Amino acid sequence: MAQTLEYPTGLTTTEAAFIENSREHGRLYIEQPYELYTTENHEAWRRLYTQMTPLWDRYANEHFLRGVHSLCLDANRVPKLDDVNRFLSPLTGFRAKAVSGYVPAYLFFESLRNREFPTTITIRDSDRLDYLPEPDIFHDIAGHVPMHTDRAFADTLVRFGECAHTAAERVSAIRDPEVRIHRLTSIIKAMARFFWFTIEFGLMSTRHGLRAYGSGLLSSHGELQHSLESPLVQRYPIQLEWAVNQAFEIDHYQPLLFVVDGFDHLFWLVDRLERSMREGKLDNVAPGEPSVSEADVSSFLAS
Ligand SMILES: [Fe+2]
Repeated sequence: MAQTLEYPTGLTTTEAAFIENSREHGRLYIEQPYELYTTENHEAWRRLYTQMTPLWDRYANEHFLRGVHSLCLDANRVPKLDDVNRFLSPLTGFRAKAVSGYVPAYLFFESLRNREFPTTITIRDSDRLDYLPEPDIFHDIAGHVPMHTDRAFADTLVRFGECAHTAAERVSAIRDPEVRIHRLTSIIKAMARFFWFTIEFGLMSTRHGLRAYGSGLLSSHGELQHSLESPLVQRYPIQLEWAVNQAFEIDHYQPLLFVVDGFDHLFWLVDRLERSMREGKLDNVAPGEPSVSEADVSSFLAS
């Protein structure tokens, strides 16, 4: 760890020399150089956490609230991943694993299959607390990881990982390279959409009414309330066929959200996602966002 002191301090989304250096050297999986966080970084965490706490009480699902409690997150300081993992691992076997940036799709899903969650360690600039299109440690640790303490949810993430494995296997049997890439791109798009409308932006029907379980909602001060109360949002019971064919955009509040009945329901849906894949129903999903990068496609082909 001592060698990290050679970097200027600061692990801010827009400026982090340690992260830039890791990327330049091709290091995707990294340590969390905790001593590099500045007072401003900790202050950004504190303000985000303080803003979200009353909103979580009102709009988050109970599994998430139990998770926040189990992880013993400090409201005042950016968490140490080792501390988070000490509470998390005994519950579901999941661990938060520090990364330097975007993890190509197959590697991301493969990590989930191994109960490892690729975790961003930078934190947003304190001038832009509410909306951030890219993940930061608040989104990943305060938005995602509390759910990973729940066994049914954790098993669902592993099932997602297994789907990616099935996808890679399925396309590897296709001889024609053009057809292989077309089908793979479509399957990755379908998986990304399904992940988006569930893990990132999902709503759940509970005995107290609708609650959020999607991490994009649970880490956004503005969108959490909007997602559950605004008449501008369409909220429908989830249908697999709809979700995998539905485009989405990441640069504004979501106008359409899908509702699950619980995590057993979500697990069952991921099972159906895999079955649909095997039956060829994801080979030609509707065009539109998200775009699938070459890095995402290559990550599947190289598996
Ligand atoms: Fe996320």
